[in-house]
Amino acid sequence: MLVLGIETSCDETGLALYDSQRGLIGEALYSQVALHAEYGGVVPELASRDHVRKLLPLLRQLLRDSGVELNDVDAIAYTRGPGLVGALLVGSATAEALALALGIPALGIHHMEGHLLAPMLEDPAPSMPFVALLVSGGHTMLIEVTGLGAYRLLGETLDDAAGEAFDKTAKLLGLGYPGGPAVARLALQGDAERFRFPRPMTDRPGLDLSFSGLKTHTRTLWQQHSSNCTNEQALQQLRADIAAGFQQAVVDTLTIKCRRAMQATGRQQLIMSGGVAANQALRENLQQVGRKHGFRISYPRMAFCTDNGAMIAYAGWLRLQDASALQPASPQPRSISARPRWPLHELKPVGRH
Ligand code: KG4
Ligand code: ZN
Repeated sequence: MLVLGIETSCDETGLALYDSQRGLIGEALYSQVALHAEYGGVVPELASRDHVRKLLPLLRQLLRDSGVELNDVDAIAYTRGPGLVGALLVGSATAEALALALGIPALGIHHMEGHLLAPMLEDPAPSMPFVALLVSGGHTMLIEVTGLGAYRLLGETLDDAAGEAFDKTAKLLGLGYPGGPAVARLALQGDAERFRFPRPMTDRPGLDLSFSGLKTHTRTLWQQHSSNCTNEQALQQLRADIAAGFQQAVVDTLTIKCRRAMQATGRQQLIMSGGVAANQALRENLQQVGRKHGFRISYPRMAFCTDNGAMIAYAGWLRLQDASALQPASPQPRSISARPRWPLHELKPVGRH
């Protein structure tokens, strides 16, 4: 079975082809970063329009590069939510129209399930059960995964997502958008010990997180100290030290919560995914703690941590193996649907009805 995956939930147009025999046989990504950079963040209407412009040319390119005809595709998986409604509708409408024309099924995939399954695209693939740390621009969640669709939420952020905190810190320091990679780069030149940063919600039991206090603390530090900088060099050092201290606080906080989640569940395998999982300091920290406490940690390659079509094609392929998902001849008319808000726990376990 050959599955085409379509991801358009935010500011990346992602496509991929997943073959049940050969695995991932092609992928293509168009990032809108340059388009949104001058606004300091994603402008939803511009995102939708750019997906409209780029999606079909990107599909033609993917088919050409992979040596595949559109007629060879057996099913289409697309991101149905959560995300920006206009952006989601572009992927959904395109997927449903193509599926109708080709007489094949189209399946709406939960974006966070895509992230959650992305580490399984790697070799060796982690196997379930595992605990998943999902850290992206919109979500920060710890989930116990016992099967496809069998997701128990262990904890989540009560306010900002980890990626959002990176993005806001970058904006504060004048580093532009997207913030995560910029903060991480600058942190390499900074002294994480110069200022004290809190490790939010680690002094009490539980697996929930919170990053808005850390954001306020960072803003206060910047306001207090930037006015005392007498030259550009001192200001740049201040930026780097704040970036380093902030990043270390996020990394420590996430690491403490992951260790607790592993203890609480007794699982041996941790996976992490989502844009913030591309953060090198977080990867190294978790590896160390995993070695010390006896659990394995897996994450996807950088390009599959951030939004991409491969994770959607793969999630689609896994779900399409369930007989109940494979009924293209169902009498209901096809519908173009997006779910900008879609709690992950609404997904049902697959294969155990
Ligand atoms: O998963 P993703 O591509 O999109 C969402 O579903 O949100 O995640 C994007 C988020 C952004 O907030 C971005 O700043 C953050 O991931 N990010 C990083 C890094 N690369 C991307 N955060 C920290 N360090 C990085 N290297
Ligand atoms: Zn994402």
